Amino acid sequence: MVKDFLSLADFSGEEILAFLDLADELKAKQKKREPHRILEGKTLAMIFEKPSLRTRVTFHTGMFQLGGDSVLIETTLGARESVPDVARNLTRWVDGIMARTFRHTDVLQLAESATVPVINALTDKLHPCQILADAQALREHRGKDLSNVKLAFVGDGNNVFHSWAHFAAKVPVNLTLVCPEGYEPDVALVDAAQKTAAGRIEVTHDVAGGLKDADAVYTDVWASMGQEKETTEREHAFADYQVNDALMAHAKGDVLFMHCLPAHRGSEVTDSVMDSPQSIVFDQAENRLHAQKAVMAMLMK
Ligand code: CP
Ligand code: NVA
Repeated sequence: MVKDFLSLADFSGEEILAFLDLADELKAKQKKREPHRILEGKTLAMIFEKPSLRTRVTFHTGMFQLGGDSVLIETTLGARESVPDVARNLTRWVDGIMARTFRHTDVLQLAESATVPVINALTDKLHPCQILADAQALREHRGKDLSNVKLAFVGDGNNVFHSWAHFAAKVPVNLTLVCPEGYEPDVALVDAAQKTAAGRIEVTHDVAGGLKDADAVYTDVWASMGQEKETTEREHAFADYQVNDALMAHAKGDVLFMHCLPAHRGSEVTDSVMDSPQSIVFDQAENRLHAQKAVMAMLMK
């Protein structure tokens, strides 16, 4: 297995499933309050260039439950010292580095210059930790074999969708992005994912067609962190892609609703969908803890 958790594209399907199985095991242990101090005495440095609720709390709590500790660094990378120098310092003190950055290349540079594992906790390009937690939740609700599951991702072809495409490239599942024109994902990334995918990976602008037979509908904010200036323009562009009761009616009757959160209620999703019995958004959020514990345990032990 590679040293770092930067992208799901760096792992085989078997390795991704091993993360998910370990996440299930650690979740069961945590529910029973069975000790699992796999990282006793170890420390994780957490670098944040962007805000966070879930990522920050789950990495900190995860390290505590694994018998270790974490230290928070809120900074702008490259401003006070170079990114490689930050990595060279941290590598002398801690056993792992988690980073949430704007530039994807900054996380790659940290990994190159650090001898300890680096975990990507969201960049402008990818959000791999989120997808492990999402897949864990989807398996809990639809069974471990996802090969007959259709996930319709409605909205922006963004970092979260990119990591879902990486997942679908390695683990059988059918993935459809339903997005407005001009908000498609990275073409090269999707092309590469399609080449190895066991299931289908599709991109469409057609809401009814894209949602047909969907087992799960996923959405994310229309303007990601760093795109706040585009909010008004994006609200117009995405207006027909709001996940509301009418949109959900195009999918299967027992369709699940998913969101990585934070949700902008009234924009990309209505309260009626977010608060419906079909919504598993807080299962996804809970699983950030268990999935990341699995990643840290496998990389840092
Ligand atoms: N989903 C997610 O990464 O949440 P935060 O931005 O709150 O960490
Ligand atoms: N696409 C969103 C995800 C937040 C967890 C963002 O990058 O802001």
